[in-house]
Amino acid sequence: MKKTSLVLTASILSADLAKLQEEVESIASAADAVQIDVMDGHFVPNLSFGAPVAASLKTNLPLDAHLMVSNPADRLEEFLKVPVQHITFHAEAVPETVARRALIAAIRKGGATAGIALNPGTPIDSIRDVVDDVDMVLLMSVEPGFGGQEFIGSTIDKIRALRRAHPGLSIQVDGGVSAETAAECIDAGADNLVIGSALFRAQNRREFLEHIRDAAA
Ligand code: DX5
Repeated sequence: MKKTSLVLTASILSADLAKLQEEVESIASAADAVQIDVMDGHFVPNLSFGAPVAASLKTNLPLDAHLMVSNPADRLEEFLKVPVQHITFHAEAVPETVARRALIAAIRKGGATAGIALNPGTPIDSIRDVVDDVDMVLLMSVEPGFGGQEFIGSTIDKIRALRRAHPGLSIQVDGGVSAETAAECIDAGADNLVIGSALFRAQNRREFLEHIRDAAA
């Protein structure tokens, strides 16, 4: 996928889940996509939500399923049925190249774009086998499992290195993204930012996202 203009993706993990539809509507006009943080309590210590929650959302925004799960292949069908427009699996959960390639092909065959995610401690080199096959690489800037964590500063160098090696790649950053860290991520070469707690805690959600866009312009 060619590097596009800035995409701001709202993560619903930190939304008020008791009124999720309303929360999604509150950001619908200012965000570009909605991310569903899928956690299985095994790959990450937390348990969140699955395809039924994604299917419950009435929105025209593209849905981005971030599978923080040990067996992403087992989850594909239900998310492709929602349908979600993008599915990211974790490199750490699928170490073999053949399995990675099969997953990417299955996601695409199901009509979604495919992404692979790297935890903060996983080197970029670990996905050299598929980096040219995926539509997007997600660089985690927190340890996956919970919203509201502090941005891990070393992610900036990782973004810069990945952008330098792959000028046309879509690079997504997720975790601890705020107005301040957003600017650093964009400057380093990220073109898709996942924002959860900073967005849903903002006084004015639309202005918060517009401020990030203006700063990036
Ligand atoms: C962690 C999640 C979070 C979430 C965004 O596993 O992936 O990063 O999407 O959370 P904030 O923006 O609150 O750090």
